[in-house]
Amino acid sequence: MNTTNIQALQAEIEAFIIIDKVTLEHFRLAYLKREIPALMGEMKNMANEDRKAYGQTVNALKTLAEQKFFDTQESLENATQGDTSHDVDFTLPAIPHALGTIHPITLVRNRIVEIFARLGFALADGPEIESDWHNFTALNFPPDHPAREMQDTFFLEKNPDIALRTHTSSVQVRYMQAHKPPMRVIMPGRVYRNEAISARAHCFFHQVEGMYIDENVSLVDLKQTLYHFAKEMFGAGTTVRFRPSFFPFTEPSAELDISCGMHNPNGCTLCGGSQNICKGSGWVEIGGCGMIDPQVLENCGIDSERYTGFAFGMGIERITMLKYQIKDLRLFSENDVRFLRQFIG
Ligand code: PHE
Repeated sequence: MNTTNIQALQAEIEAFIIIDKVTLEHFRLAYLKREIPALMGEMKNMANEDRKAYGQTVNALKTLAEQKFFDTQESLENATQGDTSHDVDFTLPAIPHALGTIHPITLVRNRIVEIFARLGFALADGPEIESDWHNFTALNFPPDHPAREMQDTFFLEKNPDIALRTHTSSVQVRYMQAHKPPMRVIMPGRVYRNEAISARAHCFFHQVEGMYIDENVSLVDLKQTLYHFAKEMFGAGTTVRFRPSFFPFTEPSAELDISCGMHNPNGCTLCGGSQNICKGSGWVEIGGCGMIDPQVLENCGIDSERYTGFAFGMGIERITMLKYQIKDLRLFSENDVRFLRQFIG
Protein backbone atom coordinates (compact mmCIF):
# COMPACT_ATOMS: atom_id res chain seq x y z
CA MET A 1 0.00 0.00 0.00
CA ASN A 2 1.27 3.42 -0.93
CA THR A 3 0.89 5.40 2.31
CA THR A 4 3.22 8.14 1.06
CA ASN A 5 0.65 8.97 -1.63
CA ILE A 6 -2.12 9.12 0.94
CA GLN A 7 -0.13 11.39 3.24
CA ALA A 8 0.79 13.69 0.35
CA LEU A 9 -2.84 13.81 -0.71
CA GLN A 10 -3.92 14.61 2.83
CA ALA A 11 -1.43 17.51 3.01
CA GLU A 12 -2.69 18.73 -0.33
CA ILE A 13 -6.33 18.62 0.81
CA GLU A 14 -5.52 20.48 4.03
CA ALA A 15 -3.53 23.18 2.20
CA PHE A 16 -6.04 23.68 -0.59
CA ILE A 17 -7.33 27.24 -0.40
CA ILE A 18 -11.01 27.68 -1.30
CA ILE A 19 -11.97 31.34 -1.86
CA ASP A 20 -15.25 31.08 -3.71
CA LYS A 21 -17.78 28.73 -5.26
CA VAL A 22 -15.56 28.15 -8.30
CA THR A 23 -12.55 26.91 -6.28
CA LEU A 24 -14.94 24.90 -4.10
CA GLU A 25 -16.13 23.09 -7.21
CA HIS A 26 -12.50 22.46 -8.27
CA PHE A 27 -11.88 20.95 -4.84
CA ARG A 28 -14.95 18.72 -5.08
CA LEU A 29 -14.06 17.41 -8.53
CA ALA A 30 -10.36 16.89 -7.73
CA TYR A 31 -10.65 15.09 -4.41
CA LEU A 32 -14.19 13.85 -3.79
CA LYS A 33 -14.78 12.74 -7.37
CA ARG A 34 -11.33 11.78 -8.63
CA GLU A 35 -8.45 11.20 -6.16
CA ILE A 36 -10.29 9.60 -3.25
CA PRO A 37 -12.51 7.31 -5.41
CA ALA A 38 -9.32 6.26 -7.22
CA LEU A 39 -7.69 5.31 -3.91
CA MET A 40 -10.80 3.37 -2.98
CA GLY A 41 -10.74 1.58 -6.29
CA GLU A 42 -7.33 0.18 -5.43
CA MET A 43 -8.77 -1.69 -2.48
CA LYS A 44 -9.93 -4.63 -4.60
CA ASN A 45 -6.35 -5.27 -5.72
CA MET A 46 -5.12 -5.58 -2.16
CA ALA A 47 -4.16 -8.49 -0.04
CA ASN A 48 -6.87 -9.29 2.50
CA GLU A 49 -4.71 -8.51 5.53
CA ASP A 50 -3.89 -5.00 4.25
CA ARG A 51 -7.33 -4.12 3.03
CA LYS A 52 -8.86 -3.22 6.42
CA ALA A 53 -6.13 -0.77 7.49
CA TYR A 54 -6.03 0.76 3.99
CA GLY A 55 -9.78 1.15 3.95
CA GLN A 56 -9.75 2.94 7.30
CA THR A 57 -7.00 5.35 6.16
CA VAL A 58 -8.74 6.20 2.89
CA ASN A 59 -12.07 6.59 4.72
CA ALA A 60 -10.46 8.99 7.20
CA LEU A 61 -9.12 10.98 4.24
CA LYS A 62 -12.55 10.98 2.61
CA THR A 63 -14.15 12.25 5.86
CA LEU A 64 -11.51 14.99 6.07
CA ALA A 65 -12.14 16.13 2.48
CA GLU A 66 -15.95 15.98 2.89
CA GLN A 67 -15.73 17.92 6.14
CA LYS A 68 -13.66 20.62 4.49
CA PHE A 69 -16.04 20.70 1.52
CA PHE A 70 -19.25 21.04 3.59
CA ASP A 71 -17.77 23.54 6.08
CA THR A 72 -16.48 25.80 3.34
CA GLN A 73 -19.70 25.51 1.36
CA GLU A 74 -21.66 26.63 4.42
CA SER A 75 -19.42 29.60 5.19
CA LEU A 76 -19.56 30.72 1.54
CA GLU A 77 -23.37 30.53 1.63
CA ASN A 78 -23.48 32.70 4.76
CA ALA A 79 -21.08 35.22 3.29
CA THR A 80 -23.14 35.68 0.15
CA GLN A 81 -26.33 36.29 2.13
CA GLY A 82 -26.97 40.05 2.27
CA ASP A 83 -24.38 40.59 -0.43
CA THR A 84 -26.53 41.97 -3.21
CA SER A 85 -23.61 42.60 -5.56
CA HIS A 86 -24.75 39.71 -7.70
CA ASP A 87 -28.25 41.23 -7.96
CA VAL A 88 -27.12 44.46 -9.61
CA ASP A 89 -28.84 45.09 -12.92
CA PHE A 90 -26.20 46.85 -14.99
CA THR A 91 -28.72 47.66 -17.72
CA LEU A 92 -30.62 50.09 -15.48
CA PRO A 93 -30.12 53.84 -16.15
CA ALA A 94 -27.65 55.55 -13.80
CA ILE A 95 -28.89 57.37 -10.68
CA PRO A 96 -28.51 61.10 -11.47
CA HIS A 97 -26.26 63.24 -9.28
CA ALA A 98 -28.17 65.62 -6.98
CA LEU A 99 -27.50 69.16 -8.19
CA GLY A 100 -28.81 71.07 -5.18
CA THR A 101 -32.30 72.22 -4.28
CA ILE A 102 -34.58 75.09 -5.24
CA HIS A 103 -34.57 78.07 -2.87
CA PRO A 104 -37.87 78.20 -0.92
CA ILE A 105 -38.56 81.75 -2.18
CA THR A 106 -38.16 80.57 -5.79
CA LEU A 107 -40.28 77.51 -5.05
CA VAL A 108 -43.17 79.62 -3.72
CA ARG A 109 -42.71 82.30 -6.42
CA ASN A 110 -43.00 79.61 -9.10
CA ARG A 111 -46.09 78.17 -7.44
CA ILE A 112 -47.74 81.63 -7.30
CA VAL A 113 -46.94 82.27 -10.97
CA GLU A 114 -48.35 78.84 -11.84
CA ILE A 115 -51.63 79.45 -9.98
CA PHE A 116 -52.16 82.81 -11.70
CA ALA A 117 -51.03 81.53 -15.09
CA ARG A 118 -54.00 79.16 -15.00
CA LEU A 119 -56.26 82.20 -14.50
CA GLY A 120 -54.77 83.76 -17.63
CA PHE A 121 -52.27 86.11 -15.95
CA ALA A 122 -49.14 86.97 -17.96
CA LEU A 123 -45.73 87.34 -16.29
CA ALA A 124 -43.76 90.61 -16.24
CA ASP A 125 -40.92 92.26 -14.37
CA GLY A 126 -39.29 95.68 -14.05
CA PRO A 127 -36.09 97.29 -12.77
CA GLU A 128 -35.09 97.21 -9.10
CA ILE A 129 -33.43 100.63 -9.44
CA GLU A 130 -36.42 102.85 -10.09
CA SER A 131 -37.32 106.49 -10.61
CA ASP A 132 -39.25 108.35 -7.94
CA TRP A 133 -42.00 108.86 -10.51
CA HIS A 134 -42.57 105.13 -11.16
CA ASN A 135 -42.24 104.14 -7.50
CA PHE A 136 -44.24 106.99 -5.95
CA THR A 137 -45.55 109.89 -8.04
CA ALA A 138 -47.46 107.90 -10.67
CA LEU A 139 -49.01 105.91 -7.81
CA ASN A 140 -50.46 109.06 -6.21
CA PHE A 141 -48.01 109.36 -3.34
CA PRO A 142 -48.18 113.05 -2.38
CA PRO A 143 -44.77 114.78 -2.17
CA ASP A 144 -44.82 114.75 1.63
CA HIS A 145 -45.97 111.14 2.07
CA PRO A 146 -44.09 109.41 4.94
CA ALA A 147 -43.11 106.46 2.69
CA ARG A 148 -40.77 108.80 0.87
CA GLU A 149 -38.83 109.52 4.03
CA MET A 150 -35.27 108.38 4.19
CA GLN A 151 -35.83 105.71 6.86
CA ASP A 152 -38.10 103.75 4.53
CA THR A 153 -36.47 104.15 1.15
CA PHE A 154 -32.92 103.77 -0.13
CA PHE A 155 -32.43 106.84 -2.34
CA LEU A 156 -29.39 107.42 -4.47
CA GLU A 157 -27.26 109.96 -2.57
CA LYS A 158 -26.27 111.87 -5.70
CA ASN A 159 -29.72 111.79 -7.27
CA PRO A 160 -32.75 111.63 -4.93
CA ASP A 161 -34.99 111.05 -7.96
CA ILE A 162 -33.64 107.50 -8.12
CA ALA A 163 -34.28 104.83 -5.48
CA LEU A 164 -34.32 101.10 -4.94
CA ARG A 165 -37.98 100.24 -5.50
CA THR A 166 -39.90 99.86 -2.24
CA HIS A 167 -42.63 97.73 -3.80
CA THR A 168 -43.44 95.93 -7.04
CA SER A 169 -46.28 98.40 -7.70
CA SER A 170 -43.76 100.33 -9.81
CA VAL A 171 -44.01 97.47 -12.35
CA GLN A 172 -47.78 98.10 -12.57
CA VAL A 173 -46.98 101.61 -13.78
CA ARG A 174 -44.48 100.40 -16.38
CA TYR A 175 -46.83 97.69 -17.62
CA MET A 176 -49.79 100.08 -17.95
CA GLN A 177 -47.61 102.49 -19.93
CA ALA A 178 -46.45 99.77 -22.30
CA HIS A 179 -49.70 97.84 -22.86
CA LYS A 180 -53.34 98.45 -23.70
CA PRO A 181 -56.24 96.90 -21.74
CA PRO A 182 -57.45 94.28 -21.27
CA MET A 183 -54.44 93.22 -19.21
CA ARG A 184 -53.98 90.53 -16.64
CA VAL A 185 -50.46 90.29 -15.29
CA ILE A 186 -48.47 88.97 -12.36
CA MET A 187 -45.19 90.73 -11.44
CA PRO A 188 -42.91 89.08 -8.89
CA GLY A 189 -39.66 90.69 -7.78
CA ARG A 190 -37.28 91.89 -5.09
CA VAL A 191 -37.96 95.11 -3.18
CA TYR A 192 -35.90 97.17 -0.73
CA ARG A 193 -36.70 99.11 2.42
CA ASN A 194 -34.46 100.86 4.89
CA GLU A 195 -35.38 98.65 7.86
CA ALA A 196 -33.37 97.20 10.75
CA ILE A 197 -32.81 93.49 10.08
CA SER A 198 -34.63 91.17 12.50
CA ALA A 199 -36.56 87.87 12.49
CA ARG A 200 -39.59 89.77 11.12
CA ALA A 201 -38.08 92.53 8.94
CA HIS A 202 -35.33 92.79 6.35
CA CYS A 203 -33.87 95.50 4.14
CA PHE A 204 -34.78 93.45 1.09
CA PHE A 205 -37.57 90.97 0.45
CA HIS A 206 -39.84 89.77 -2.34
CA GLN A 207 -43.32 90.74 -3.43
CA VAL A 208 -45.66 89.56 -6.10
CA GLU A 209 -47.83 92.20 -7.71
CA GLY A 210 -51.01 91.35 -9.57
CA MET A 211 -53.14 93.53 -11.82
CA TYR A 212 -56.26 93.08 -13.89
CA ILE A 213 -57.63 95.91 -16.02
CA ASP A 214 -60.62 95.62 -18.34
CA GLU A 215 -64.12 97.01 -18.79
CA ASN A 216 -66.33 96.26 -15.78
CA VAL A 217 -63.69 94.77 -13.50
CA SER A 218 -65.05 95.02 -9.96
CA LEU A 219 -64.23 94.26 -6.36
CA VAL A 220 -66.04 90.93 -6.81
CA ASP A 221 -63.36 89.88 -9.33
CA LEU A 222 -60.62 90.90 -6.89
CA LYS A 223 -62.13 88.98 -3.99
CA GLN A 224 -62.82 85.88 -6.03
CA THR A 225 -59.32 85.86 -7.55
CA LEU A 226 -57.59 86.12 -4.18
CA TYR A 227 -60.01 83.66 -2.63
CA HIS A 228 -59.09 81.16 -5.34
CA PHE A 229 -55.38 81.87 -4.84
CA ALA A 230 -55.55 81.29 -1.06
CA LYS A 231 -57.26 77.92 -1.53
CA GLU A 232 -54.77 76.82 -4.17
CA MET A 233 -51.78 77.94 -2.13
CA PHE A 234 -52.80 76.91 1.38
CA GLY A 235 -55.47 74.28 0.87
CA ALA A 236 -59.20 74.05 0.23
CA GLY A 237 -60.13 74.86 3.86
CA THR A 238 -58.52 78.33 3.69
CA THR A 239 -60.66 81.46 3.67
CA VAL A 240 -59.72 85.10 3.14
CA ARG A 241 -60.67 88.29 4.91
CA PHE A 242 -60.47 91.82 3.53
CA ARG A 243 -59.75 94.51 6.13
CA PRO A 244 -60.39 98.12 5.06
CA SER A 245 -57.09 99.93 4.66
CA PHE A 246 -55.42 102.75 2.74
CA PHE A 247 -52.98 102.88 -0.16
CA PRO A 248 -52.55 106.09 -2.22
CA PHE A 249 -53.01 104.17 -5.49
CA THR A 250 -56.12 102.09 -4.75
CA GLU A 251 -59.66 103.02 -3.77
CA PRO A 252 -61.18 101.22 -1.96
CA SER A 253 -58.14 99.52 -0.40
CA ALA A 254 -57.88 96.47 1.82
CA GLU A 255 -55.36 94.35 3.69
CA LEU A 256 -55.58 90.72 2.69
CA ASP A 257 -55.72 88.18 5.52
CA ILE A 258 -55.96 84.41 5.28
CA SER A 259 -57.41 82.13 7.91
CA CYS A 260 -54.70 80.24 9.76
CA GLY A 261 -56.97 77.33 10.58
CA MET A 262 -57.20 78.04 14.31
CA HIS A 263 -60.95 77.70 14.13
CA ASN A 264 -60.74 74.48 12.14
CA PRO A 265 -61.39 71.19 13.91
CA ASN A 266 -57.76 70.19 13.15
CA GLY A 267 -56.36 73.25 14.90
CA CYS A 268 -54.10 76.04 13.74
CA THR A 269 -52.33 74.47 10.77
CA LEU A 270 -50.45 77.53 9.50
CA CYS A 271 -49.04 78.62 12.86
CA GLY A 272 -48.02 75.04 13.60
CA GLY A 273 -50.34 74.97 16.60
CA SER A 274 -48.35 77.71 18.40
CA GLN A 275 -50.60 80.68 17.47
CA ASN A 276 -47.46 82.85 17.57
CA ILE A 277 -48.06 84.12 14.02
CA CYS A 278 -51.79 84.88 14.17
CA LYS A 279 -51.43 85.95 17.83
CA GLY A 280 -54.56 84.01 18.66
CA SER A 281 -56.75 85.91 16.19
CA GLY A 282 -56.98 83.10 13.62
CA TRP A 283 -56.00 85.48 10.78
CA VAL A 284 -52.66 86.39 9.21
CA GLU A 285 -51.92 89.22 6.79
CA ILE A 286 -50.32 88.33 3.46
CA GLY A 287 -50.66 91.55 1.46
CA GLY A 288 -52.58 94.59 0.33
CA CYS A 289 -55.06 95.09 -2.48
CA GLY A 290 -57.73 97.35 -3.91
CA MET A 291 -59.37 98.85 -6.98
CA ILE A 292 -56.83 100.89 -8.94
CA ASP A 293 -57.45 104.62 -8.38
CA PRO A 294 -58.77 106.21 -11.62
CA GLN A 295 -56.09 108.90 -11.26
CA VAL A 296 -53.38 106.19 -11.45
CA LEU A 297 -54.95 104.78 -14.64
CA GLU A 298 -54.90 108.29 -16.13
CA ASN A 299 -51.29 108.88 -14.94
CA CYS A 300 -50.31 105.80 -16.92
CA GLY A 301 -52.31 106.62 -20.08
CA ILE A 302 -55.39 104.43 -19.55
CA ASP A 303 -58.91 105.79 -20.06
CA SER A 304 -60.44 105.63 -16.57
CA GLU A 305 -63.93 106.33 -17.94
CA ARG A 306 -63.85 103.10 -19.88
CA TYR A 307 -61.64 100.83 -17.81
CA THR A 308 -61.47 99.74 -14.21
CA GLY A 309 -59.00 97.40 -12.57
CA PHE A 310 -57.83 95.76 -9.41
CA ALA A 311 -54.31 95.33 -8.03
CA PHE A 312 -52.77 93.40 -5.20
CA GLY A 313 -49.31 92.98 -3.70
CA MET A 314 -48.31 90.06 -1.49
CA GLY A 315 -45.15 89.24 0.45
CA ILE A 316 -43.48 86.10 -0.88
CA GLU A 317 -41.42 85.62 2.31
CA ARG A 318 -44.62 85.90 4.34
CA ILE A 319 -46.38 83.25 2.26
CA THR A 320 -43.31 80.99 2.40
CA MET A 321 -43.02 81.36 6.19
CA LEU A 322 -46.67 80.43 6.61
CA LYS A 323 -46.47 77.53 4.18
CA TYR A 324 -43.34 75.97 5.70
CA GLN A 325 -43.62 77.32 9.27
CA ILE A 326 -40.36 79.26 9.08
CA LYS A 327 -39.94 81.53 12.09
CA ASP A 328 -37.04 83.76 11.03
CA LEU A 329 -36.85 85.90 7.87
CA ARG A 330 -33.05 85.97 7.99
CA LEU A 331 -32.86 82.26 7.12
CA PHE A 332 -33.81 83.13 3.52
CA SER A 333 -30.65 85.14 2.89
CA GLU A 334 -28.08 83.34 5.05
CA ASN A 335 -27.58 80.53 2.54
CA ASP A 336 -27.14 77.87 5.20
CA VAL A 337 -27.29 74.60 3.26
CA ARG A 338 -28.80 72.78 6.24
CA PHE A 339 -31.84 75.06 5.82
CA LEU A 340 -31.87 75.14 2.01
CA ARG A 341 -31.47 71.36 1.55
CA GLN A 342 -34.90 70.78 3.07
CA PHE A 343 -36.69 72.27 0.07
CA ILE A 344 -37.03 70.00 -2.92
CA GLY A 345 -38.67 71.44 -5.99
N1 PHE B 1 -47.56 98.03 -2.76
C1 PHE B 1 -48.25 97.77 -1.53
C2 PHE B 1 -47.24 97.49 -0.43
O1 PHE B 1 -46.09 97.27 -0.72
C3 PHE B 1 -49.19 96.59 -1.66
C4 PHE B 1 -50.31 96.82 -2.63
C5 PHE B 1 -50.17 96.48 -3.97
C6 PHE B 1 -51.52 97.35 -2.21
C7 PHE B 1 -51.23 96.66 -4.85
C8 PHE B 1 -52.56 97.55 -3.06
C9 PHE B 1 -52.43 97.18 -4.41
O2 PHE B 1 -47.58 97.48 0.74
